[in-house]
Amino acid sequence: MTETVENPTETAAPLLDQPYVIPVEAYYSREYAQAEKERLWSKVWLNVARVSELPKFGDFLTYAIADDEFIVIRTGEDTFKAYSNVCSHRGRPLIDTEPGEHDARGRRRQFVCGFHGWRYDTDGACTHVTEAEDWGPGGPDLDSYRLPQVQVDTWGGWIWLTMNPNAEPLREYLEPMASLLEPFQLENMRCRWRRWLEFDCNWKVALEAFMETYHVPVTHPEFRVFGSFLGWSRAMGTHSHIGYDAPKGMEENQAKVRIAQGTDDPRISTAKMQNFTWEAVNTNTTQTLVDAANRLVDELPEGTPPDVVLKHWLSSARRDDEARGVIWPSPTPEQTAASGTAWQVFPNFQIGHGLNNALCYSARPLGDDPNKCIFEAAVYEIFPPGEDPQAPWIHTPVDDEYWETHIVLPQDFSNMAAIQKGMKRHGFQGNKPNPYRERGIVNFHRNLARYVGTGAPKPL
Ligand code: FES
Ligand SMILES: [Fe+2]
Repeated sequence: MTETVENPTETAAPLLDQPYVIPVEAYYSREYAQAEKERLWSKVWLNVARVSELPKFGDFLTYAIADDEFIVIRTGEDTFKAYSNVCSHRGRPLIDTEPGEHDARGRRRQFVCGFHGWRYDTDGACTHVTEAEDWGPGGPDLDSYRLPQVQVDTWGGWIWLTMNPNAEPLREYLEPMASLLEPFQLENMRCRWRRWLEFDCNWKVALEAFMETYHVPVTHPEFRVFGSFLGWSRAMGTHSHIGYDAPKGMEENQAKVRIAQGTDDPRISTAKMQNFTWEAVNTNTTQTLVDAANRLVDELPEGTPPDVVLKHWLSSARRDDEARGVIWPSPTPEQTAASGTAWQVFPNFQIGHGLNNALCYSARPLGDDPNKCIFEAAVYEIFPPGEDPQAPWIHTPVDDEYWETHIVLPQDFSNMAAIQKGMKRHGFQGNKPNPYRERGIVNFHRNLARYVGTGAPKPL
């Protein structure tokens, strides 16, 4: 059973701690997908890119969601702008994203349309209409030809955009997540690797595979020897979060960077778990943490209690990193415990925050087919000053040989297309999440229904 006490800050928990069923329309109905486009994607804040990806004035990249696409561009020291990627004249996209590419990027002082040569500056103003004299004396009213602009803001080192002109400020939208994750200084992290691929499933099926720990013992059996990876899931307003169950006195072990508590000596099993995690998934840890874990057996006597092993491991890794200029944030044990292991930022971004690393997922519709999505996984860590790896997006489809050695994520992937098929089978009533370990999925659909207007979870 569960070991962690309920979090008093959780919102709406009394309503959601009972069984619910989530109607399947949310996952494959074309009408629902259309309603998402009109009422969800156009209203929320969307996570787009890292601030560090656009270091210089004029640096831009494209961001596609469903059949929309935006150009996000740096326009100043701390300012970014975003425009719909469409020429005001007759609708040709200004920037072409090559088929199979994650995005298009570059540096521009102006955008020139490839159809008839209209031009736009980085503020979205139309600066040139070819054959302007055809518009008569005075030429065209260029103010009517501006690029459609959307709002942009930054938080956590990411650029976010919203198509909603009346959206609440980003920081307010991200609460309480933003305040609870502030101590982790995510803006100081840089990408170690990032991969993207398409799945034959709805974008929500892909995200929900990572919104709970309930699947870990069955989908990832290799982790069983390292102890329990089961945990709680809480509704936090629009967003949700998860954390591992942990016994009293080990509250920090609810977090992503945690020690193993299998039947083995925790010094040995933590080292084994770190090496397995590094090789088989390359997330949730760093080389420094792996090296420090490998020393535990030499540095601590047999019988050292788990809480001492955890503290020693983290402080020795922190010291090693400090020596190479990698300064970890210092959240208090209470902050670490309260922030859990990952946040599901409504609607389609997950931040799995660790002390010196993070693992983020996102999913979004691929075109207008509710049975297809784009999925992204990105791993971050703190690098020494001046070292900024800027890992490119690598397209890594499910059958790519990379996944043959990095076996853990493919275990999650193996459920995706299968669920999309299964949910359409005769007699299936809808998702029935675990009220404790999968509560965030119910919260997710409750909030989705508020935007989309249909698909609310129903008490069973
Ligand atoms: S569509 Fe862009 S200039 Fe004609
Ligand atoms: Fe998983």
